[in-house]
Amino acid sequence: MIPLAPDYIRELEPYVAGKAIPNLIKLASNENPFGPSPKALEYARRALPEGHLYPVNHRQDLKEKIVAFHREFDLKTDQIIIGNGSTELITLLVRTLVGPGEAVLNAWPSFLMYRLACRAQGRQEIDVALTDSLDYDLETMAAKASQAKLVFLANPNNPTGRYINAQALERFLNQIPEHVVVVLDEAYSEFVRRENFPNGLAWVQKRPRTVTLRTFSKAYGLAGFRIAYAACDPAIAELLHRVRDPFNVNSIAQAAALGALDDQEHVLKSAESNWKELILLEKRFSELGIKFTESAGNFILAHFENAELVYKKLIDFGVIVRPLGNYDLPHSIRITVGRPEQNEALFTGLKALVS
Ligand SMILES: Cc1ncc(COP(=O)(O)O)c(C=O)c1O
Repeated sequence: MIPLAPDYIRELEPYVAGKAIPNLIKLASNENPFGPSPKALEYARRALPEGHLYPVNHRQDLKEKIVAFHREFDLKTDQIIIGNGSTELITLLVRTLVGPGEAVLNAWPSFLMYRLACRAQGRQEIDVALTDSLDYDLETMAAKASQAKLVFLANPNNPTGRYINAQALERFLNQIPEHVVVVLDEAYSEFVRRENFPNGLAWVQKRPRTVTLRTFSKAYGLAGFRIAYAACDPAIAELLHRVRDPFNVNSIAQAAALGALDDQEHVLKSAESNWKELILLEKRFSELGIKFTESAGNFILAHFENAELVYKKLIDFGVIVRPLGNYDLPHSIRITVGRPEQNEALFTGLKALVS
C-alpha cells in the first residue's frame, strides 16, 4: 500500500499552541496583555464592509508605511514581504530557498516553527544545542553554517528570552559564508530594553542574504489578526512572491496593521510596562528563591524541580503559563509578562506554591 503521506510528514508532531481557558489569566503565548491599539481596531472596522472583495495584494500604502517607519535603514518597498504572521514567512522562506538535499541550521531550543517548517518540507535540519546558560552557541553555529542554506536566529530567542548583542551578532554574521541566508527573527524586538541590542534591519542592506522578520503579533497586540513582514534583498523578495499564496494576508489584518503603525504610543506603553514588570518579576523570583533565566522579551523562563506540577497548580490560582516539555525543557515554565494585576495573581500563586 502506498502511504498516504511521505515519511517526513507522518513523523511530524503538530505545533502545540499555548492553552487558553475561559476566565483564566493567560500568560502562555507572549501576547500583548494590553490588547490591540484602538487605532488598529478602528482601521480594521472600517475595512469590514469591503469583506466581499479579495484583499488588495500586499497593500502598497502598508509597505510604504513600513519603510517610512524604518526610514533610517533606507529600505525600498520591493524589499518588504507581508505574511500571515511570521510563521507563514518562516515556512515560505524554507519552501522557497531550501532545495532538496539542502539543510537548515537551527539552535535548539528555539522557536518550534523553524524545526517544523524544515521537517514539513523534508529538509535536513542541523541543530546546535544552546549553551548551559541557554544562550546561542554562535561559535558552533558559525562552524556549521557552510553545511546549511538557511540559518534561523531568534533575537531575543523564544522560549529562553536570551538575546544576542550587537558585537556578537556582527562577529557571527562576518563568519557566515556569503551564500548562506541568515534569518533574524525579531518578533520581540520592540520590548527589548537590555544593553546593546542590535537592529537586524541594519543587516539587510549590509549583507544581502539576510532576512529580518518583524511581527504585529507581539508588541502591536495583533496576534489574532495574523500579520507580519520580512525585510530582505529585492531578489529574495521576488522569489518569495512567486511561492506565496496569492492572497496570503487578509484585508482586515492589513488595515489593522496600518492603524497599529500609526499608534506607536500604544507600542511604547506596552513595552515600558513590560520592562517595568519584567524587572519586578525577576526581583520577586529572587526573593522567593525561584531560579529564572534573565530575559530580554515579554516572557521569562522559571525553573522548578517539578515544572509540570507548578504549571497545573497555577491553573488553580487562575493563571495559565506554558510548560516546555516539547521544547526539551521539562524543568521550566515560560511565563508571559502580563499587566500589573495579572502578574500580582501569578506572584500570589507562586508564593503559595514555593512556601
Ligand atoms: C521567535 C518567534 N517568532 C515568530 C513568532 C510567531 O509570530 P507570528 O504570530 O507573527 O506568526 C513567535 C511566536 O511565538 C516567536 O516566538
